[in-house]
Amino acid sequence: MKYYNDQPGIYCMNREWRFREVEISDLPAGRKHDDVYDYSKAAGAKGPAESSFDDSEWETVELPHDWVVQKDFTPKGLLNHGYKMRGNGWYRKKFRLGEEDMGKQILLEFEGLSSKATIYINGLLCKRQFYGYNSFSVDISDFVCFYPAVNQLAVKIEADAWEGWWYEGAGIYRNVWLVKKAPVHIEYQGVYVKPTEMQDGLWKLEIETTVENSFGKNRELWLETALYESGKKIFDFPQEHVAVEGFNHVICKQETVLNNVRKWNLELPCLYEIGVRCISLPEKDEVLSEELESDYLKVRFGFRTIQLDSETGFWLNGDNIKLKGFCCHQDHAGVGVAVPYAVKEYRISQLKKLGANAYRCAHNPDPEILLICDKLGMMVMEENRTFASCPEVLEQVRGIVRNARNHPSVIVYSIFNEEPLQGTQRGMRMAKRIRNTIHRMDHTRPVLGSFNGGYLEDEGAVHALDAVGINYNPMRYDEFHEKYPNIPLIASETASAFMVRGEYRTDEEHHVISSYDDFCAPWGNTHRDAWKWVNERKFVAGAFVWTGFDYRGEPTPFEWPSVGTFFGTYDSCGFPKEACELYKVMWKKEPGIHIIASWNKKRKAGELQKVIVASNCQEIELSVNNRVLERRKTTAYFQDEFYVAFEKGTLKAVGYIDGIKAASHCLMVPGEICRLKVECSKESLWDDGSDSVIINVIAVDRDGLEVPDADNLVHFDVKGGAKVIGVGNGNPNSHEPDFALYRKLFHGHAQAILRNFGSEHVITEIWAEGIGKTVVEIPVHHGQMIPYINSVSDVVTVGWRMYYRLLDEMPDVDMEINENDRNSFEPIEFHGRPQNEFTGKLTKYGIFYNQIKISKDGNRKFLYFPDVRGQVYVWLNGIKAAERTDKTTGELKIMIPDEEDNVYRCFVIIRNQNTESNEAGICAPVMLVDCLV
Ligand code: GAL
Repeated sequence: MKYYNDQPGIYCMNREWRFREVEISDLPAGRKHDDVYDYSKAAGAKGPAESSFDDSEWETVELPHDWVVQKDFTPKGLLNHGYKMRGNGWYRKKFRLGEEDMGKQILLEFEGLSSKATIYINGLLCKRQFYGYNSFSVDISDFVCFYPAVNQLAVKIEADAWEGWWYEGAGIYRNVWLVKKAPVHIEYQGVYVKPTEMQDGLWKLEIETTVENSFGKNRELWLETALYESGKKIFDFPQEHVAVEGFNHVICKQETVLNNVRKWNLELPCLYEIGVRCISLPEKDEVLSEELESDYLKVRFGFRTIQLDSETGFWLNGDNIKLKGFCCHQDHAGVGVAVPYAVKEYRISQLKKLGANAYRCAHNPDPEILLICDKLGMMVMEENRTFASCPEVLEQVRGIVRNARNHPSVIVYSIFNEEPLQGTQRGMRMAKRIRNTIHRMDHTRPVLGSFNGGYLEDEGAVHALDAVGINYNPMRYDEFHEKYPNIPLIASETASAFMVRGEYRTDEEHHVISSYDDFCAPWGNTHRDAWKWVNERKFVAGAFVWTGFDYRGEPTPFEWPSVGTFFGTYDSCGFPKEACELYKVMWKKEPGIHIIASWNKKRKAGELQKVIVASNCQEIELSVNNRVLERRKTTAYFQDEFYVAFEKGTLKAVGYIDGIKAASHCLMVPGEICRLKVECSKESLWDDGSDSVIINVIAVDRDGLEVPDADNLVHFDVKGGAKVIGVGNGNPNSHEPDFALYRKLFHGHAQAILRNFGSEHVITEIWAEGIGKTVVEIPVHHGQMIPYINSVSDVVTVGWRMYYRLLDEMPDVDMEINENDRNSFEPIEFHGRPQNEFTGKLTKYGIFYNQIKISKDGNRKFLYFPDVRGQVYVWLNGIKAAERTDKTTGELKIMIPDEEDNVYRCFVIIRNQNTESNEAGICAPVMLVDCLV
């Protein structure tokens, strides 16, 4: 997750949201004049956006959250979405800010929500974000209230349409943060670190900090910038004196020259940090608290060089490296698009195991992927979703760059994927503008588009870009290179080959495809063929295989009842298909050998079995039960194929290099399932409420051999505060629920994902009928504390109005109030001070009026006035509910009578009786609370 440990003022907003999937209409229920009038005003939003809306019957959910994944599969759903129906919904979270937060900049940061979001705070529209894959921030400083008032955040999500042609889920599926900053602070994503290699091992380090003054007063400040290595400060930049006008920002540039830096590379991805502090200078006689005075931001970065050349391909730190990449969508089995950080980390480690060095975020950006790839040493093609050069999309593109440019892992930006306008003049103009937008912010990385045509046109987007990405059609690489020898080329999408894990026969009728790499999309190639085309051409900088993992939706070449893809090198859980073994021997240097064959008890003796021996050794030898069948020179790329008569026993392959045994692999016939072997993706968990672990369950016989035909129903019983958040087994044809405490094994494998919500003990008992229990205890440790913003249940009543003048006599509380009258009764909020109207007007009466809605959650409600001054009389629905005449200051608590109706006409009459202060009024927000202590 985001880098928060060292970062004061950042709070996680992932906990305790209210959610409901609903038909969306935020128009006022009634169409009376006052409804329409109020709705047209700031803070006048209606429905779930309203502070007083009753969400007590809604579900409580935790982020990241994808509400679609929990639904059933239905043929009514879109094939592209994996036959789950999307829809529309609302999220609400009520939270408090302290009095000490007054004057700070308050930001919300959304890492991604799907798809169209409209965000309200306290009934006030503050942001429309119609791009489901982009991160953004919302400055809510002007709209929030402070203790004791409560803030109501409401997010409307419209997800009934689509932005992509794959599974997109729906909801707030990435993290949300609340950031509190001093009024003069470093802007959101406002530190850009740019290392440039000079000669003789020297590096120029340029830092660009955007200091923003969110409020009116001009300010002077000191900027302190330091460089950290492994958490230790190693260099202080000279302090800078900066002046920034109110409601404005300045960009402050600093630079230095360093030597002896440790480079970021794929094996040892060294990261450094820049910490920037800005300290506002108080004006004469002004005292600033530390929190209002100082702001701090720390960013990670790395020292590395990249170059993309049209003849020689890609270079990292001066080494010519072929990009061995995978395209990946973001969803994972069981959790849909709400993928926890730990699962993303697991997936990228799985890809690294195959010798992969690159990851294409297909077809959208993802901020957490960049953090992980920085850490694990993986290069990234960061991709923009919507191809357009209109101001809105350019703003999204800027957001992508702001988020990506400090990450050493990011080596290239892709601005589109397979766009019909790619080969047109219009496409060229659009691409030019987008590339320019990117280069103004980051000119250190090439910008390309991923084309499926149009790249040989004389006018088209290719002429506006730094490089071309070609999807499929490898036979056109040479043609392109001949025509445009100066344009670098990356095979941005290759393969699209099909496989089902554990299957060794193709049965199209039952949507089953074998693991022999012999079937691909008509526009694609087999894994082996695709890599041959790329690897044999130096000018092709590398390949991004479609795909690293199966994903939901797009079940090409099938339709219902298939619900997931067959493209993955790993299945949707991250269990390896045989394609993994092909990449290991094609991509890795260390000697490897692997037999691809079905060698189990279902086979009849003498039945001929297809066997592929994948190896990067020079020679291979195949034997059955120690009888050598054949020894031969290996065939690069296509590997070696044999037909072997099955016999019970061991099938063994040995690989030789220079005549010496370098690698071996054998298949033995497994017996019956005896127990469930459990492998966890991590050895321990943090107790910070966000950490997750993948639990892989594999059926084995009594000798520990995997049992590939096991399909038992496995149960996951979790003890303590952890919870199963999703289950899967990698079967693209399975309609079992994703959200359950059980899952059938598919070819002997199943998976559960567990999230630790803070428990100190995470124990899971895993069992299947007739098979002994496997108990897994995952150690939990403390130390990494995410500060959370807790949700509160108190309701602050809004919509109060006050009669425009004071009266001499006690008014009639049965008075008719014309609901359209917004002038005799003026809107009023209560913010810690008495109303001016009363000042000096002893014995006069003021009238306050509201219609108060009570939620139907079954709890007894109290109307609570934390601070009301003067003599007070309260009427609810014409009945006197309270009278306070014995004192003139302090709080007032009133139990609300039980009534069928949940709307109460409330009159509060205040008589200014404060002979000392001569003040009266309602001085703090009026609340509805469940209990009073
Ligand atoms: C490509 C496309 C991908 C995916 C793939 C399947 O054309 O870019 O998103 O649909 O085909 O083969």
